[in-house]
Amino acid sequence: MRRSAVGGSAVAMLAAAAALVSVTMPSAHAADTPLRTLAEAKGIYMGTALMQNELTGISASIAGTQFDSVTPGNEMKWESVEPTRGTYNWGPADQIVSFAQANNMQVRGHNLVWHSQLPSWLTSGSFTNQQLHDIMIKHVTDEVTHFKGKVVHWDVVNEPFNEDGTFRSDLWYNQLGSSYIADALTAARAADPNAKLYINDYNVEGENAKSNGLYNLVKSLKQQGVPIDGVGFQAHFILGQVPSDFKANLQRFADLGVDVAVTELDVRMQTPADSTKLQQQANDYTAVMNDCLGVTRCVGVTVWGFNDATSWVPSTFPGQGAATPYDENYQPKPAYYAIQAALGGNGTPPTTPPTSPPTTQPSTPPPGGNCAVTYGVNQWNTGFTANITVKNTGSAPISGWTLTWNQASGTQTVTQAWNATVTKSGTAYTAKNLSYNGAIAVGASTSFGFNADWSGSNPTPTGFALNGGACTVS
Ligand code: G3I
Repeated sequence: MRRSAVGGSAVAMLAAAAALVSVTMPSAHAADTPLRTLAEAKGIYMGTALMQNELTGISASIAGTQFDSVTPGNEMKWESVEPTRGTYNWGPADQIVSFAQANNMQVRGHNLVWHSQLPSWLTSGSFTNQQLHDIMIKHVTDEVTHFKGKVVHWDVVNEPFNEDGTFRSDLWYNQLGSSYIADALTAARAADPNAKLYINDYNVEGENAKSNGLYNLVKSLKQQGVPIDGVGFQAHFILGQVPSDFKANLQRFADLGVDVAVTELDVRMQTPADSTKLQQQANDYTAVMNDCLGVTRCVGVTVWGFNDATSWVPSTFPGQGAATPYDENYQPKPAYYAIQAALGGNGTPPTTPPTSPPTTQPSTPPPGGNCAVTYGVNQWNTGFTANITVKNTGSAPISGWTLTWNQASGTQTVTQAWNATVTKSGTAYTAKNLSYNGAIAVGASTSFGFNADWSGSNPTPTGFALNGGACTVS
């Protein structure tokens, strides 16, 4: 049996996801079934890395709608969490965990013991072996304890191998020997017995010297009874170079009695992208999804950032990029539809919503005045995201709607909308339904949203009216 993808009731998750969909999806793909819903139906999770500065606006909207797992991109790493010895900075990671909880997503903790992104007090501390051991155990214990019950999978040890399959010569191995790995896993298990504990590495997707080293380690840990639940395969690929034996390699690890997961998937290319490269990239994403889906113990796939605007690739590999499923304008690429298709979705871009009113709309609008509006806003210094829900509180179904309202003060300019067309004339806003959400049954609601720039002030607007009739506002 494939492991249940997401903790808690799958039905509740699906319902919650469905509730979120209409609020947050950009109109270009609003009619698609979200990847998370498709993934859950297949028994896996579909995750993304996310950073603290992506928790508002369009990135938050897409992440919360399309993905059911979040890996903090940097915020749980040692330099972020414990910048000063014994003093913890949980804020950024806590924010991501809160975002995940608010959107019914699970969290992959990344990471506890790694050679990189360590604070300078640790790397230049000249500690004795015993001191370093105790520092490591305390850090693992404190961090896992802080997130106990909130993190489903932990990357306890990250990137412990060299390319030739020997242990990486880093702070941990050089002073503590390979036993640091078992010690870290054991401390993590003691701190949260329910968290799934992983070793995570890159260039281990195919069968090669490095993955053989990892395989032998996992086999040995299992034989010794060291707590290890899974192996993460980062999967930072180069265009056209997904190893043909990825699935077989995942399976050989699974046969050791551990779960496996694709934890940091991206497929980079020389930029600029073109249609040929994007199609190859889509094929690469398809291959990875099918490799995971083909292994019963592969529990999920995480992309390392879902959009090209914030991907780590261009700054690390100059001249390369375009590695993720969404482009720099947050529009889905062929790779997005490849993932969707591999998960059982239709895998094709939706047709553009018509600009003229749908033919199903009645020639005379239904009576207004029976509506309740909820206006929610996430605001930052120069911009905001508004999410608006309209409830039909009347006794007749609505078929086709126009919501109007007025800006109270300040200057606001709409930059993007989803699930409605939103226009502005002076201080007057007008939102009209799209082809697929014109109907609101009695007692039902529909939601849409928009991004806008603002200056001066940005108070809650006034005078909401649906099809000409005033609405209550909360
Ligand atoms: O926060 C500072 C900011 O104050 C400063 O202005 C800016 C200038 O460069 O740097 C910012 O820090 C950057 C940090 O990401 C946060 O954005 C670092 O320079 C940058 O090196 C760091 O890169 C991260 C990288 O790990 C570090 O190794 C990437 O975001 C992150 O995606 C990447 O993730 C790793 C996984 O953890 C492990 N597997 C490989 C993967 C990709 O490298």
